[in-house]
Amino acid sequence: MCGIVGYVGGQSAQDVVVAGLRRLEYRGYDSAGVAVPADGGLASAKKAGKLVNLEKELKDRPLPAGNTGLGHTRWATHGGPTDANAHPHLDNAGRVAVVHNGIIENFAVLREELTGRGHHLASETDTEVVAHLLAEAYSSAGELAEAMRQVCRRLEGAFTLVAVHADEPGTVVGARRNSPLVVGVGDGEMFLASDVAAFIAHTRSAIELGQDQVVELRRDGATVTGFDGHPAGTRAYHVDWDASAAEKGGYASFMLKEIADQPKAVADTLLGRIGASGALRLDEVRIPPHELRDVDKVVVVACGTAFHAGMIAKYAIEHITRLPCETELASEFRYRDPILDGRTLVVAISQSGETMDTLMALRHAREQGARVLAICNTNGSTIPRESDAVLYTHAGPEVAVASTKAFLTQLVACYLVALYLGQVRGTKWGDEIRTVVHQLSDIPRQVEAVLGTMEPVRELARTLADRDTVLFVGRHVGYPVALEGALKLKELAYMHAEGFAAGELKHGPIALVDEGLPVVVIVPSPRGRSVLHDKIVSNIQEIRARGARTVVIAEEGDEAVVPYADHLVRIPAVPTLLQPLVATVPLQVFACELATARGNEVDQPRNLAKSVTVE
Ligand code: M6R
Repeated sequence: MCGIVGYVGGQSAQDVVVAGLRRLEYRGYDSAGVAVPADGGLASAKKAGKLVNLEKELKDRPLPAGNTGLGHTRWATHGGPTDANAHPHLDNAGRVAVVHNGIIENFAVLREELTGRGHHLASETDTEVVAHLLAEAYSSAGELAEAMRQVCRRLEGAFTLVAVHADEPGTVVGARRNSPLVVGVGDGEMFLASDVAAFIAHTRSAIELGQDQVVELRRDGATVTGFDGHPAGTRAYHVDWDASAAEKGGYASFMLKEIADQPKAVADTLLGRIGASGALRLDEVRIPPHELRDVDKVVVVACGTAFHAGMIAKYAIEHITRLPCETELASEFRYRDPILDGRTLVVAISQSGETMDTLMALRHAREQGARVLAICNTNGSTIPRESDAVLYTHAGPEVAVASTKAFLTQLVACYLVALYLGQVRGTKWGDEIRTVVHQLSDIPRQVEAVLGTMEPVRELARTLADRDTVLFVGRHVGYPVALEGALKLKELAYMHAEGFAAGELKHGPIALVDEGLPVVVIVPSPRGRSVLHDKIVSNIQEIRARGARTVVIAEEGDEAVVPYADHLVRIPAVPTLLQPLVATVPLQVFACELATARGNEVDQPRNLAKSVTVE
């Protein structure tokens, strides 16, 4: 939530910052603003609404030239999306400007203190108190980095802060606690951003900042300390994708591009997983094998789409390892006092690696002695850094708010984790593991094949654009797929959409079915666990008998469903456990097309943000 950019170097700060904000707009699009220290003062501009409003303002009234600056694109928490609440916020003298991501929990007390000392606060935000506190601290510290350290020690909650001061036109200062901030190291220029996407067009060298650290950026480098002022260690890394990966590449939306990217993303996530000895490898495992052998329970925590991947992980982990596995919404996890100990393995799944609910769940798990394995798409983010083991998905940057390629690669990662546990614990032989990895390596080709047959799905979606409700049903691993199909439609088309386990229909939801209601059914393979298939064929007949218009997603060669399908979508035949990898794709295309037909902007759905860094 909220995107932040800071810059110091030789280019126009306004241009670099606005271009960076464009790449971070997926994080929030309620308002945007920039500030540049120039001509002995501080110039700033901010506008409610999308970045384009700010760009127009800057075109009409450009800021004075300057080579240092900061910017912000907002997802509103405290105070509505107005010009006054937009960031940056300035102190009363207009000498310091600050942008913020997160929530300052003790802002009410601080605000009262400040007004008591004669400060005038112009917005409803929690952020504005920081600008005033920085101005006060600067008057005694005489240095922005030290002022920032003093202020951070007084703040409670989660925050990334970036500030500039009129008296230090060659410096940008940042700070982070429980909220992302990375440093970009260029040639004679330095960057700060919530995500490397903001500076990838300039440099692929990055530095991770740790928890409770302050960074002072100058053209020639950065100094990092703790909030206490002691020098702090950092980790430098190379970003393994380039600027073109964060462009639309000729597609009408990032979502369409990311759907099309899926074969490559899946292939990249599988790349190099089998080592020279024939054994499966994860990226970083700081859990000794004997501890993994001692694990007696696995708990998967995640939110939203990643939670649906986690639901599928449960089927894979239990099937492959015979370990009991629970999947839990990260936002609920720590509040129910879960039973965890040194023999529990917690798997935290997150595309961004910054989702606050998931981060808090993993911290709680570690406090209770559990070991944590992260499945994450973002190198340098907090969740993998705080975990004992990491498996990175190599989906590349996912910009559209609705998750697509991240989901498919999370699924691949979940299967790999299950197989890895099976390998370490000896519940699967090497050749059995290699067979599944081999089946997985055929998935990119099969997803490509699905993508090539989507025109009828798009056509169907357009005909349903005026409907109020669509239901999705599935069984076994098809149940989370149904939930994911419904989530995509809710967030993109703003329609009532619900996913059900098909077996639950008769326990209530079937009452929703009436004449013409579209019901999407994900049909398990008739091969293998054919009992599931027979049951769902009965379910289709039951809903059709009550007037539903059935959209049946079934594998090639499944003829039993043909008489009951008003619309039939074919997917390739794959092993039952792996079916979500191909069955989800038509649902993504369906939601994207239906939302577009309703006139919605698919990359930036209303009220949402890509990275949910507040609880
Ligand atoms: O970055 P994360 O994977 O932790 O994000 C979790 C959810 O916020 C995310 O999957 C969300 O549900 C997507 N917008 C769904 O498309």
